[in-house]
Amino acid sequence: MTTANRTYNFSAGPATIPLQVLEQIQQELLNFNGCGASIMEISHRSTTFMEVLDSARAGIKTLLGIGDSHEVLFLQGGSRLQFSMIPMNLLRDAEDRAAYIVSGAWSQKAYDEALGAGHIDLAWSGKEANFNTLPSSSDLQLPNDPTFLYYASNETIHGIQFQQELDVPDVPLVCDASSDFLSRPIDMQRHGIVYACAQKNAGPAGVTIVVIRKDLLDRSRDDLPGYLNYKTHAAQNSMFNTPPTFGIYVVDLICKWLLNEMGGLEQMAEYNQEKAAIIYEVIDQHSDMYLGHAVKEHRSLMNIAFNLSEDNLTSRFLEEAAQQGLSSLKGHRSVGGVRASVYNAMPREGVIALRDFMKSFYTQNS
Ligand SMILES: Cc1ncc(COP(=O)(O)O)c(C=O)c1O
Repeated sequence: MTTANRTYNFSAGPATIPLQVLEQIQQELLNFNGCGASIMEISHRSTTFMEVLDSARAGIKTLLGIGDSHEVLFLQGGSRLQFSMIPMNLLRDAEDRAAYIVSGAWSQKAYDEALGAGHIDLAWSGKEANFNTLPSSSDLQLPNDPTFLYYASNETIHGIQFQQELDVPDVPLVCDASSDFLSRPIDMQRHGIVYACAQKNAGPAGVTIVVIRKDLLDRSRDDLPGYLNYKTHAAQNSMFNTPPTFGIYVVDLICKWLLNEMGGLEQMAEYNQEKAAIIYEVIDQHSDMYLGHAVKEHRSLMNIAFNLSEDNLTSRFLEEAAQQGLSSLKGHRSVGGVRASVYNAMPREGVIALRDFMKSFYTQNS
């Protein structure tokens, strides 16, 4: 157990939030910035909230190293709404086509949903390999002049993550970064859209961040329903409807934490590398019991998915881990086993506690 009887929470999302951020929320909950009410109780059009919104937007831009080239939108509907908004907005004309990389459960869902919205080509699929590996840029089958190439930088369920930027010149990339957003730098100049639901690395559930290159906004047709049109949200400063004010406030605090406490995304990435390596090392040392899902070079630094050599060991592992204050380690129901999500906010101490538990569990059960 950690401070205030908190467990080390390995949930895949909604996921752990930095303790410092939670404490700040607690401290300013009743009276935000001297305005006499909580951030949840004031108008989204008040100066007080507008300052938070501007600050969250600026924080994301600073962290990602973008200036005026991209717009940052705060939307609702989760990442899943983006599965349809993206093709709906970007495939404008009948001849437009998009290519999709299907590398796990989430990009599979995005691809399936996009099929109804226009011409979609499958650039690569990892389904036959049970989503344990990823393509290199030269493995992709691309149509002529695709409008965009879609991929998920990190597959949360299968625990695989692109460790190198895709090298596909002249094609705008569209990235579902839901489970590794703000965990490392990303080359924004190659990306038309990077989007993420907040509830893993960037805040609570309820707000989705869409970073979109400004010239792509012109692709959105005027006959799209208002909420589903990126242009509407950009023109109205993410205030087309009442935005998820509390969520945006937490995103702002997390950006400040990343900038001021963690030192930005380069440093965050190094810390994340170090944390994930600690767990992968135990998996490799005890590979007769811990069976990692991903091939080594595509291992995720965010979601470490593995099975135990015997099914009946899994429930014992989860139970004993929980007794030691290591919670939410159960793998996704579609793949089973164990999944340790070690997002930005998981401290090194939590990872060390998991490593020590895995070692002693191995000794006791082998
Ligand atoms: C990579 C990825 N994409 C999309 C989603 C869907 O997000 P939401 O539940 O916010 O719609 C998730 C959720 O876990 C995810 O991990």
